[in-house]
Amino acid sequence: MDEPEDLPPILVAPHRSLKTPARAVRPADMDAVRLLAPRMFAAMYKAPGIGLAAPQVDVGLRLAVVDLMPGDVRQPIVLVNPEVTRVSTEWATREEGCLSLPGQYADVSRPASVRVAYADLDGKRHEIDAEGLMAACLQHEIDHLDGVLFVDHLSALKRNMLMRKLAKERKLAHAEK
Ligand code: NI
Repeated sequence: MDEPEDLPPILVAPHRSLKTPARAVRPADMDAVRLLAPRMFAAMYKAPGIGLAAPQVDVGLRLAVVDLMPGDVRQPIVLVNPEVTRVSTEWATREEGCLSLPGQYADVSRPASVRVAYADLDGKRHEIDAEGLMAACLQHEIDHLDGVLFVDHLSALKRNMLMRKLAKERKLAHAEK
C-alpha cells in the first residue's frame, strides 16, 4: 500500500461526530472506502496507534482499521461493517488509550475474548476469534462505530476527571504554540 500524503485529521473529544453512531457501509460506498482506508492507516501509523475508526476522521461509516504490528511487522486489517457475534463470559481488564483522547489512559473491563464478523475491501466476509489485546482493540474500535469512547466504560467521576485533564492539557499545548 502506498503511503498517502494528505492525512485525515483525527478528531479529539469532545466532538459531536465521536458521539454519533455510524451507518453501515453499502456497496455504493465501497469506492470511497477503498480510498479512505489507506489514508486511515497512514494517519494511524503516524500518530502512532493500533486502531482507528472512520468516525474519528469525521466519516460516519462502519469502517475501522487495526494493526497490532506483532514483532514490529505491519499486519493491517480493514474491517467493513464489523460486528461482535460472540463474547466470552470471562472479562479482562487492560489499560486503554485512544487517538481521540491523546495522552489519556485508563483501565477498561470488557469480555476477554470475542468473535468478530466483518467484510474486507473486496466484500469478502471474515470471522476472527480474538483474545488479549486484539479482543480489546476490536471492541474499542467497534464502540467508536456506535459513538462510544473508552471513557464511557468508566464511572462518571473518572470520565469527567479524564476529560477535564485532556481539556486542560490541550489548552496548555495551544498556549505554548
Ligand atoms: Ni479510540
